[in-house]
Amino acid sequence: MPVATSPTACCRVSMPEIDRLLSADRRGLELLYRRTSGIEAADAIRLRWDWLRRNPANTSGEPLYWIVREGPTIIAASALMPVRVGLRGLEAEGAWSIDPLVVGERQRRGLGEALLRHWDRQSGVALGGALSEGTRYLLRERLRWPKPVTLPCVVKPLSRRALRQPSWPAPVNQLVSALTLPFVRVVARARPLREQVEVVRRFDPAVDALWERVAPRLDLAVKRNAAYLNWRFVEPPHVRYAVAVLRRDDETHGYAVYRHVREPQGRATQIVDFLADPEDERGLKTLLRWIDREARAEDSDKIRCHVQHTGFRRVLRRSGYFVVKSAVELYVKVNAVDVPADFHGEPDRWHFTLGDGLLDQ
Ligand SMILES: CC(C)(COP(=O)(O)OP(=O)(O)OC[C@H]1O[C@@H](n2cnc3c(N)ncnc32)[C@H](O)[C@@H]1OP(=O)(O)O)[C@@H](O)C(=O)NCCC(=O)NCCS
Repeated sequence: MPVATSPTACCRVSMPEIDRLLSADRRGLELLYRRTSGIEAADAIRLRWDWLRRNPANTSGEPLYWIVREGPTIIAASALMPVRVGLRGLEAEGAWSIDPLVVGERQRRGLGEALLRHWDRQSGVALGGALSEGTRYLLRERLRWPKPVTLPCVVKPLSRRALRQPSWPAPVNQLVSALTLPFVRVVARARPLREQVEVVRRFDPAVDALWERVAPRLDLAVKRNAAYLNWRFVEPPHVRYAVAVLRRDDETHGYAVYRHVREPQGRATQIVDFLADPEDERGLKTLLRWIDREARAEDSDKIRCHVQHTGFRRVLRRSGYFVVKSAVELYVKVNAVDVPADFHGEPDRWHFTLGDGLLDQ
């Protein structure tokens, strides 16, 4: 009696050889992007190449890619963003990954899985966000990764247009706007700043001391020192952020990174990243009041923030923010140190925001 095999099982590549991308491979990688994701994606990589190369956590002269070759052609690749990661005051190397790219005619032969395994094995802390259904399936079912956590989202309404939904008909949106206006006016009322906040063009080294103070209070967070913050939020060629810093005497006690965006139903201000001591409610509230002013000056209808840490989220809620549904899932696996069995399911003291990885592009 013939043995049934799945059509893909017979074609599975046994153990593909995975190499690190070299400078000579750059054209081949651009070609892979063109073939898998289109010309725009290939152009985006060209635009970001030098920036990716300058990542302070990068250990070689080229952006970090693991690739699979077939003769002279690159047939699969995984793009990683190396970072330093803080674990309650300890430090480890880590890497964010997006979906592996696999050329159409070589998909479903185990290449994506092999690249994901390689990233997992090579990373002290492996971090993934905004992953495709296929990648999520492989991490969960084949690599047996811990369950993902949702990165919660909070929103503060500022105008009558704040609660509009693109999926609702215009009369419904108008009715909701009219009914909620008195409530929005109360939530959005201006409050005094009380402390000194400055807009800066670059982070100065004083922010390193803030990270050193705060890191032991966070169970898990990407290391936010001046080198990383300038690279991630000041130097990208594809997006502009504003940076505000909370100063007390000559010390930095917090910062916020934000940008204003136009959306189908109006304007929004996105808090992309921030840091303060989780115990320093006054400091974070001051930064939030600063952003209120900036958002009003830009005529934003709402302010949005993605924030994992429960303590930070509590301060946001006390500042007029409401929890809304979030579609952002984070896949996290700590390999560098032994963590308690429930670590991956207890993200209350993790600090992740939309500024992490390439969630905000
Ligand atoms: C997830 C991904 C990396 C998988 O790469 P791959 O080499 O084809 O996958 P593997 O052979 O290692 O693993 C195959 C398994 O992954 C899962 N899988 C792969 N693609 C999937 C998809 N689109 N939806 C759901 N599951 C998927 C399936 O379980 C599959 O097992 P099966 O073939 O027995 O059904 C890749 O398909 C993907 O989604 N990449 C997104 C980016 C990309 O490549 N875009 C190009 C579009 S053409």
